[in-house]
Order: sequence, then structure tokens, then C-alpha cells
Amino acid sequence: MAIRSRKKDANEEGVSSSSERRPSRYEEERGPGCLGLVIALCVVAIVLYFSSERVLRKKLWTATELMNYNGTDENLPILLGILGSVYDVTKGRTYYGKGGSYNHFAGRDATRAFISGNFSGEGLTDSIIGLSNIEVKRLIDWRSFYSKTYFYVGKLVGTYYDASGKETKALRNAEAKAKLGEKQLKHQDAVEKKYPSCNSRWSQQDGGEVWCDSGYPRLVGKVGELPMSGQSKRCACFTREQLGKAGLEVYAGCDPLQSTCKVS
Ligand SMILES: *[C@@H]1O[C@H](CO)[C@@H](O)[C@H](O)[C@H]1NC(C)=O
Ligand SMILES: *[C@@H]1O[C@H](CO)[C@@H](O)[C@H](O)[C@H]1NC(C)=O
Repeated sequence: MAIRSRKKDANEEGVSSSSERRPSRYEEERGPGCLGLVIALCVVAIVLYFSSERVLRKKLWTATELMNYNGTDENLPILLGILGSVYDVTKGRTYYGKGGSYNHFAGRDATRAFISGNFSGEGLTDSIIGLSNIEVKRLIDWRSFYSKTYFYVGKLVGTYYDASGKETKALRNAEAKAKLGEKQLKHQDAVEKKYPSCNSRWSQQDGGEVWCDSGYPRLVGKVGELPMSGQSKRCACFTREQLGKAGLEVYAGCDPLQSTCKVS
């Protein structure tokens, strides 16, 4: 009995003493402050994350609410809408804040202005009526840019989302148009590869000039583009056999078989 109990005591001592020694060695090696430091850094990171960039929870916004987040009040985040999606762009205050060059996007959904570049009065509208498929595709690309670069904070009730947050017919139409636009852009790329663009130069003395290293310069319409983007035509080079194609325009004042043309 006595021996067994002594043995047990010894075992217990052994276990307890070694288990006491191990953590103390562990602490000496790793340093007792290390874990504390990591926790402190995590807390700081979390506080910064929530205080500076993610003050707002996702929700349904009304246009009237959104208006207050226009960058005027520096204590409020800055929000913008595009196609009814609302983003917190506070970290881009230099652009979107008061006096910033994109301040007109703040506190509203001015979807159309991303394409039209018209930042005055009625230009600041979310209507995309009359835009081409490719232009709508560019708007969807802008929305993706905001999704990647800033924080999504919800939906704006109105043109693109209804009062219960469901997407409207206008949004579905926009997505469908953008899909067509994407196809047209691919087609446009393929066409542009087939008919290479002209070289061009411009100087104050001599004015502008376009030329082809091989073939003849012609003005051609860009596939699917409308005048709003201001790039509805380009100069491309065609071989002699291709010159009969429809829609090719000879530069004014240029001989049809000249490889260099003056442009005004
Ligand atoms: C901009 O937001 C402020 C509040 O932050 C508000 O008082 C003001 O009316 C807003 N301006 C416009 C043009 O909506
Ligand atoms: C902007 O849009 C408004 C309304 O459609 C129009 O009256 C104005 O002329 C446009 N401004 C520019 C610079 O295109």
C-alpha cells in the first residue's frame, strides 16, 4: 500500500513537475508577449477595417437617403450608385469628396454620366435609354470596377431595384443588352484584326495624316457603336481586292489609290 502510494506520488510529481516545466520553457522560447501582440494587432486591424471602410451594413437605400452621402459632411461616408448598386467610395475621397473631380457621382445614381461624360443637370441621371449595347456593356464593366475596388453597401430602390430589393425589368434588360454588347465587342475585335488600323500622325505645321504600310486607308464604321462615345469611325487599311466592300469611305480630297491621306 505504502509503496504503491509512494510510487503514485512519485508519478504524479513527475507528471506535474514536467508539465510545469514544459510550458515555462515554451514561454521562454516564444516570449510571453508574442500572443498578446498578435491579438492586439488583430483588434487594431478589425477596428480600422470597420471604422474607416465598412461603417455601413448592406441595406436597401432610397434616393433621398443616398443624397446625404455626397461628400459634403466629412464625418459621413461617401456613397455612389451605379445601375442601382450602391458602393462606399470613402477611401477615394480625393476623387469623390467635395471638390473632387468625380464628386458629381457622390450621393446619387448617375449611371448615364459614366458613358455620356455629361455631369451637368439632367446629364446626372440613372436612365440608360438610347445607349447602345456596347455602351451598356461598358456600364456593367464600371459596376464590376466598383465591386472590386470599393465596398458594396446595398441596393438603391428605384429604376433598377424595387421596394423589396428585387431586380426590375430595367436591370434585366440592361444585363441582356450588355451581353449583346459583349458579343459585338468580340466581333469588333475580330474585324479590327482582319483590317488593321492605319498609322497616323499629327503636327501643328502639317496637320494630320493617316497612311497604310500596305493597302489603302478608308474610314469605316465601328461595329455597334453610336455617336455618343465619339468613336463611331476608325481608319483601316484595305487591300486593292477588298476596296469594293460596302461601307468604306475614301478620305475627302484623297485619291482612292493613295496610301497616305491628309486629314483635317
Ligand atoms: C449633400 O449632403 C448633405 C449632408 O451630408 C446635405 O445636407 C445636402 O443637402 C446634400 N446636397 C445635395 C445637393 O443633395
Ligand atoms: C447635358 O445634358 C443636358 C440634358 O440632357 C443637356 O441639356 C446639356 O446640353 C448636356 N451637356 C453637354 C455638355 O452635353
